[in-house]
Amino acid sequence: MENTLYYGDNLEILRNHIADNSVDLIYLDPPFNSKADYNILFKEPTGEPSKAQITAFEDTWHWTIEAERTYQEIIRTAPASVVEMMRAFRQFVGLNDVMAYLTMMCIRLIELKRVLKDTGSIYLHCDPTASHYLKILMDTVFGKKNFRNEIIWHYKTGGVSKRWFGRKHDIIFFYARKGDSDYVFNLHKEKSYMMHKYGFKKSDFQEDDLGQYSMTYLKDVFIIPAIGSADKQRLGYPTQKPESLLERIVKASSKEGDAVLDPFCGCGTSIAVAQGLNRNWIGIDITHLAINLIKWRLKNTFELEPKRDYDVIGEPEDLAGAKELASQDRFQFQWWALSMIDARPYGDKKKGADTGIDGFIYFMDRKNEYKKVIVQVKSGKTQVGDIRDLCHVIDREDAVIGLFVTLENPTQPMIEEAAAKGFYKSNITKKDYPKIQILTIDNIFKGKKPGLPQQFCISPYEKAERVVPKKQNEMFDN
Ligand SMILES: C[S@@+](CC[C@H](N)C(=O)[O-])C[C@H]1O[C@@H](n2cnc3c(N)ncnc32)[C@H](O)[C@@H]1O
Repeated sequence: MENTLYYGDNLEILRNHIADNSVDLIYLDPPFNSKADYNILFKEPTGEPSKAQITAFEDTWHWTIEAERTYQEIIRTAPASVVEMMRAFRQFVGLNDVMAYLTMMCIRLIELKRVLKDTGSIYLHCDPTASHYLKILMDTVFGKKNFRNEIIWHYKTGGVSKRWFGRKHDIIFFYARKGDSDYVFNLHKEKSYMMHKYGFKKSDFQEDDLGQYSMTYLKDVFIIPAIGSADKQRLGYPTQKPESLLERIVKASSKEGDAVLDPFCGCGTSIAVAQGLNRNWIGIDITHLAINLIKWRLKNTFELEPKRDYDVIGEPEDLAGAKELASQDRFQFQWWALSMIDARPYGDKKKGADTGIDGFIYFMDRKNEYKKVIVQVKSGKTQVGDIRDLCHVIDREDAVIGLFVTLENPTQPMIEEAAAKGFYKSNITKKDYPKIQILTIDNIFKGKKPGLPQQFCISPYEKAERVVPKKQNEMFDN
């Protein structure tokens, strides 16, 4: 199986692309119905996190006609036990956000069961908001007898309430597809620090900076720090999980060469870990910001190139595909178009304010001096007034170049207006770059790049640490 990144809704992708009994390990970390918006953070050229945030995904579910349709489909097609459970949920929970969430999860869990091999395992990551309901769902879909562990991931982050105990754990349900089969499970050891030496022989323990420890088998409580603001792994993607957490799961429940599937893969933690441990992988995410970040992560960490080293499916591949994406969701279209020219998205337009800026590119023009390029993306009709607007925005924002990215071809007056703005001369390359550049999506597909000192452009993402894969038989030490 080829390593593949899918951009789209995992239900559709599972149904159309993933064969029965084809996957060895599934890890899923779906949104939890926390009613939060999750913002992605980009960084400024200086390395500082940017104040501009973009909602990467929303974690709010409502009972809509779509939810009702999905529920009806479950009633029509799912095994009797699942139907009974969903009917009971509907009665008990009512037609509200929680029921919408459980319906969305139920139909996907049924597909995940179909694609999982008999010797495979599934890990569902959730938190106490919905874990009690999800365990019932998992028992119903995967079978109570196949339940293996409720793993508690305990982390220490700031912030406690005075009204209850600090909530510092997530829950990961581990089910084997067939508990009585020869499912893969490699039990590993971790360092266990001694509180006292009584009862231990000297040869039982070793010592490191933190104290004396012995190696003991992993239990169902994982104590692993969450990704903090200064963490080297941090990519700015909300809900990013630590690699060491995924390492435990991937090492325990798969072998080298096995296929790991993450249908809600976010910024691709499970993908990066699978790659580092020589597993094959399939990642799916519905937001293009996540897909682009994973591509960047794979390049930065492993020097992998899309299409050469792994497949990417679901992104527009031609003008018709780009038009289709623009008609489905103009924000996703915008994020995709920006990714095609390595620009950083800007501003949360979903939240209102239109600043006339869709994205930025920064480049270095002298040592420690950065220049700003403003990008506008248009999916509809364009006219000469749009170019004049872009000129105003550039002046207002103290930028040096404006890129106008458009699905439609520009008119002659637009081309003339852009040309009239003249050139910017780079201090480093000493070359002239047109101050206003019009790029059509069609030309971008044909390989056209913005006229910029490309080698001095700054990556929009925080740099992830290069992973040095640990060997399968190495002990855990965190
Ligand atoms: C909690 S995050 C996953 C974070 C991930 N474990 C990591 O370490 O980065 C959930 C992800 O699910 C994605 N998502 C939500 N609904 C989806 C769907 N129907 N199909 C595919 N992805 C979806 C969101 O875009 C988001 O990136």
